[in-house]
Amino acid sequence: MEQTLVILKPNAVQRELIGQLISKFERRGMKITAMKLTRISIETAEQHYKEHRGKDFFEDLLSFITSGPSVIMILESMDAVEIVRSMVGATNPAEAVPGSIRGDYATSPGHNMIHASDSSESVKREIELFFKPEEIQKYRLAVRPWL
Ligand code: RTP
Ligand code: MG
Repeated sequence: MEQTLVILKPNAVQRELIGQLISKFERRGMKITAMKLTRISIETAEQHYKEHRGKDFFEDLLSFITSGPSVIMILESMDAVEIVRSMVGATNPAEAVPGSIRGDYATSPGHNMIHASDSSESVKREIELFFKPEEIQKYRLAVRPWL
């Protein structure tokens, strides 16, 4: 099984879409192994998005992601990184296909609703940034054989 890290960004919380978005992952057959509602600090946001430091959108990105609480979770399934990235859709919602989360819920690249890890290296780094080991649950989903 593979893990991935998802952030429902502050506009997803403000638009009261947390439940709808989590439902999509549950329906797809992803297991949630950790989840929290928290306001990301500037320091953590800088770490999380450090690959974008120096780009023209970096300051706006930091100010948006720290503007209110986000929901952060770890999801687990076969090929979790690839599956969740495809469910999330293209970075620019104008290019995100209908049916994807950004394709259904977003219009602006800066307010594109959701983050998902883009590689196994990112997963490891992001899980360590947002969760302590004891915050991650190990359990068996009873439906697993049917997924
Ligand atoms: P994320 O990290 O948030 O999941 O998004 P992503 O992988 O699809 O895109 P990434 O290239 O990592 O960019 C991170 C966030 O920066 C904003 N962005 N704006 N104006 C622009 O050209 C631009 N490019 C990126 C987006 O909000 C994107 O989610
Ligand atoms: Mg990214």
